[in-house]
Amino acid sequence: MHVDIYERFWMWGAGAIVAIFLGITAFAAISQGRVPPSHAETVDPRNVWTDPRFAERGVKTNPDGSVEVTMVALMFAFQPNEIRVPAGTPVTFRLTSADVLHGFQIIGTNANTMLVPGYVSQFTTEFDRPGQYLIVCNEYCGLSHQGMFATLIVEEGE
Ligand code: CUA
Repeated sequence: MHVDIYERFWMWGAGAIVAIFLGITAFAAISQGRVPPSHAETVDPRNVWTDPRFAERGVKTNPDGSVEVTMVALMFAFQPNEIRVPAGTPVTFRLTSADVLHGFQIIGTNANTMLVPGYVSQFTTEFDRPGQYLIVCNEYCGLSHQGMFATLIVEEGE
């Protein structure tokens, strides 16, 4: 079978491009840990309030100075309703739902996740600008979905 030289050139060229892309992806994933954010941790949604991980909700400062926020979403509120974190410090959010699917978006920041009953959503972010931020539920969760919000206050770091 005769394959034209130019056809051959483009066949190998396309193959090389795919190989390069796969190589870059594998390099980033393996040596730099660049993978989609995932955190497969489960929790019994019926026992969220007594589960030791969620019994104490709010803001906690770790010995290394990093901050951890624990919150539970329920129809139609976030518990607690107001949190205060320092600016310029990594903040790890640990969130779950006590009933149905909810959303968790901090307006004006890159914080946005889904709260799936039975799972713990965890992500770490940093807030550079002090101020007051609105946290909204962005997944339709029932009749008062539009009234489900909380407040994040980012305070000037020391
Ligand atoms: Cu919770 Cu919408």
